[in-house]
Amino acid sequence: MKRTHNCGELTKKNLGQKVVLQGWVKKNRKLGALIFIDLRDRYGITQLIIEESAFNMASSLKTESVIQVSGEVIARKSVNPELLTGDIEIKVTELELINSSEVTPFEIKNNLESSEDTRMTYRYLDLRREELQKNFILRSKINKIIRNYYHDNNFIEVETPIFGKSTPEGARDFLVPSRINHHKFYALPQSPQLYKQLLMISGFDRYFQIAKCFRDEDLRIDRQPEFTQLDMEMSFANPIDIQENIEGLLAKILWDTKKIKLKTPLPRITYREAIEKYGIDKPDLRFGLEIQNFTNIFSKTSIPLLQNLTKNEVIRGVKVDCLIGKKELEQLTQTAHQNKLNNLPFLKFTNGEWSGSLAKNLSDEEKKSLISDFKIKGDCTLLIARGEYELVSQAFGAIRNHVAKIYELFDKDAINLLWVIDFPLFEFSEEENRFVAAHHPFTQPKEESLKDFDINKKDALAAAYDIVMNGFEIGGGSQRITNEDIQKRMFKAIEMSPESVEQNFGWFINAYKFGAPYHSGCALGIDRILMILAQTTSIRDVIAFPKNSNGIDPMTNAPDMVSQTQLDDLKLKLSK
Ligand code: AMO
Repeated sequence: MKRTHNCGELTKKNLGQKVVLQGWVKKNRKLGALIFIDLRDRYGITQLIIEESAFNMASSLKTESVIQVSGEVIARKSVNPELLTGDIEIKVTELELINSSEVTPFEIKNNLESSEDTRMTYRYLDLRREELQKNFILRSKINKIIRNYYHDNNFIEVETPIFGKSTPEGARDFLVPSRINHHKFYALPQSPQLYKQLLMISGFDRYFQIAKCFRDEDLRIDRQPEFTQLDMEMSFANPIDIQENIEGLLAKILWDTKKIKLKTPLPRITYREAIEKYGIDKPDLRFGLEIQNFTNIFSKTSIPLLQNLTKNEVIRGVKVDCLIGKKELEQLTQTAHQNKLNNLPFLKFTNGEWSGSLAKNLSDEEKKSLISDFKIKGDCTLLIARGEYELVSQAFGAIRNHVAKIYELFDKDAINLLWVIDFPLFEFSEEENRFVAAHHPFTQPKEESLKDFDINKKDALAAAYDIVMNGFEIGGGSQRITNEDIQKRMFKAIEMSPESVEQNFGWFINAYKFGAPYHSGCALGIDRILMILAQTTSIRDVIAFPKNSNGIDPMTNAPDMVSQTQLDDLKLKLSK
């Protein structure tokens, strides 16, 4: 028998038709002499009605068994408006068990409360659930939109190697020992960065790839060791060209999947402005809650906690338009502690009166200034802290996000996108006691930093940009260095010796001697975009077979020991 329809498509229009359906038994219940089965597949659920006298095995069919039925489409007595097929049911005339199922370790349903490790151990069952399947349907659709968009814009899709060379200046690499080349390792690519730059030198002009990337980093809700980028690069293009291209792609994705019209060009804020207003380089702008400066107001304060600032210290905070309760204050204080603030003092304002841990020594002048500077009208709470600018700002970045979450200050269906530009070219690594490239060492310094980026490293700016969606960094890119002299100065600035440059990147910089177009590019984290669009709280919900927070796949138990033969083989090579 061949399937004539799927379980989500039969409606009143099909009444009277003879159909064949195949699928999983979702529910099986007996009512008098009749058995009702909900038959499920990826497309939906169809109700089957079976006379027990005709098919006595029907009542014992276990849920999740796979069956095949043929029968007639008839009108349902009690319509189910929640189902696409809710007007009809199938009066079964033939029934065949294709494969029965044992009792599953958890029920196949939405809003499951089973532990994540159990779900991941039986990932193929977890993936049967509609709420996960819809994420992968969305993922497939987005991949198609990406491919169509780039083909329509004259880009070529090129696959770059998975076995590459380990190079310094990034996250940790995953290494693969080479059996036939003693003592040597391939590295899995953290991104196709260097290859795509070489493709520009090859004259490919416009490149894109849906690329697997691998980074050995600590995992977070938006990080996996193995993830996917939409990677692109364009010759004779500057950062604005790239940003316009990415905006066009995101506009298409949002429209085709969510019917959201993206207003372009997107807002652009500098890295400095992002830290000043939001304490973070990936601000969530679905809500306001800008960080405020209180240093001036409290410059002559008699509040002991805010007195005697050192040269590097500032007083910053946020104004929340309600009276924050005790429990919430405790939660926010915890966030403050996690972000290296010792405490989170506060002031509450209600009915013209001030209270809170800082209220005791608040002067009349300070009260007046607070009200006028922060336009205080009704109930509000000021969360305030002192400390070094970067530290306090960063802490309030986290506190700001936490406040928004507690008070649901944003529309969960809203999508907010912005570019953060003018990133620092370098960051200081305490661990290595030197400046390292903040993005990567092939990032072009901004025009105004070209003159002295290798001297004034602290203030040097990069022609680099990130794109942020709802508080997540969903992508980043830059203009690349295509000038030999600038590249040399860059390596010197990060204290890489000419020998080390030659050994690690000689093969790469050599290419720039043979006629290189200027070029820029970007990469979007597809998993992160999906996580946001699918409104899930974990990147694992949009990756078919992800790793858990310890980097383990509980289903296959990877990473695992390898056989002694394999090990011997490698050991031999390694110990030689
Ligand atoms: P970058 O390192 O910023 O840039 O990475 C681009 C985007 O990839 C996503 N991403 C991740 N997603 C899931 N898990 C991870 N571990 C992970 N790491 C990164 C993020 C990030 O914004 N080659 C450059 C791009 C370029 O310059 O063209 C690059 O890889 O969404």
